[in-house]
Formats: sequence, C-alpha cells, structure tokens
Amino acid sequence: MLEAVALTKDFGSHRALDGLNLTVSPGEIVCLLGANGAGKTTTINLFLGFLEPTSGEARVDGVDVRADAIGSKRKLLYVPEQIALFGELSGLENLAYFAALSGVEDVSAMHLRDCLDRAGLARDAMDRRASSYSKGMRQKVGLALAIAKQARALLLDEPTSGLDPAASAEFHALVVRQRDAGAAVLMVTHDLFRAREVGTRIGLMRGGRLRRMIDAADITASELESLYLEEMGSTAES
Ligand SMILES: Nc1ncnc2c1ncn2[C@@H]1O[C@H](COP(=O)(O)OP(=O)(O)O)[C@@H](O)[C@H]1O
Ligand SMILES: [Mg+2]
Repeated sequence: MLEAVALTKDFGSHRALDGLNLTVSPGEIVCLLGANGAGKTTTINLFLGFLEPTSGEARVDGVDVRADAIGSKRKLLYVPEQIALFGELSGLENLAYFAALSGVEDVSAMHLRDCLDRAGLARDAMDRRASSYSKGMRQKVGLALAIAKQARALLLDEPTSGLDPAASAEFHALVVRQRDAGAAVLMVTHDLFRAREVGTRIGLMRGGRLRRMIDAADITASELESLYLEEMGSTAES
C-alpha cells in the first residue's frame, strides 16, 4: 500500500533521506524510530506529496504520488503531532469541514457522529468548541476523519508526543483497530515501548538512512532499547 523505492531527498547539499526502501502492507503497522534529524518527517512528507523526491519514488497503492497527487491523498490520512482544528467550531463541525474537503460522500451529522464515536470521542464533547479540546481529543477527530474517508493508509508523525499514558494507550488501541480493519500504518514515534507493542515491524533511522528493520515479534522491549541505543550511538557509517 505504501512503498518507498530508493527514495532520496536532498535539501541543498544536505541529504535528508538516503535511498529508503520500505513497504507497508495493508494490516501492518510499521514504526519509524530515530533521533531528531534522522529523516522520519521527510519520509512522511514525501508520501504526502508535500515534498518532491530528489530521486526514487514514493508510491501509494502502486502509483507514484507525483503521478496522482489528489488520488493518492484521498487514500491517506495524515496525523501530525498537533492536529489543527478550527477552535470556534465544534468537533463535529470540524469533521464535517475536513470530510467535505476530503471528498467524503456521506457528511450527514448522523454518520459523522458515528465516526467520532468510533474514534472514541465522548458524545457530549462532539458539539463543544474544539478550542476546549485536549490534545488527545483533537487526535480523535483526526482518527474520525480516517474512519469517515475510509483511509487505506495512515501516516502518523509523533501522534502521541505529549499525551499522558492513558490517552496514548487509547490512541494506540484505535490505531490497532484501523490496522485490523485493513489499513496500512506508518507511524513515526519516540515511544519504544508502544512501537514494540503495536508495531509489526520497527525501522531504526539515523542520518537519513534506514539502519535496521526489526520484526516486533522477535524482540523484547529491553532488547529494542539496547539496539536503538547501539544504532544511535554508533559512529560507523555503512
Ligand atoms: N524544509 C527543509 N529545508 C532544509 N532542511 C530540511 C528541511 N526539512 C528537513 N530538513 C533537514 O533534513 C533532515 C531530516 O529532517 P526530518 O525529516 O525533519 O527529521 P526527523 O523527522 O527524523 O527529526 C534534518 O537535518 C533537517 O534539518
Ligand atoms: Mg520529525
């Protein structure tokens, strides 16, 4: 569903992403870990078509995102660290606005309330102004949009940074539900524990390169931490 083929991005003379090869299939959560500046957000932005690759391809559903910018975005749902909502509008009104922009056919209040409900937003919060929402509630509106547009791939960039552990657990459970419904999920995170819990595979990035790809089932949380520290600390360029 998501495929990076020798994907490379330079900013001036700086190579932010260097020959990334990666696939994320339906029903899979691939987590990307790595220190700041590793190229994680650049990877997400290339899949979203926000950036043009220097070389290589980012494919969504087998198609280069440059060849079908609108069609590929329809299939994707992007959740950044901070979801921007209109503070003066309610959660329901925000969802209606973004669903209409995304080409969702059924934007009836009944359907959108159901999507918010499935994303875990309390019924009594749906009509409150979004300016009163916690970060966790804003993220739920994002996931409700994924449900409304039946997104086939989720691109999540540090979606739970700054959430308390209970809100983070709830968010991850919702992502797992999307995975079980067949979504392909690419999630950037600094949370080693959750990456191992929910990830199918875990990629360790450093200096624009994918250094290692690990099957989450093969590793304990403490082994993952050791590997991470080893990769991030190593000075050997390969
Ligand atoms: N728009 C940009 N212009 C110039 N350099 C950038 C830009 N975006 C990212 N970079 C650089 O590319 C590298 C990778 O950045 P990024 O993908 O944001 O890292 P991460 O998300 O892993 O922290 C960093 O060195 C960063 O400074
Ligand atoms: Mg980033």
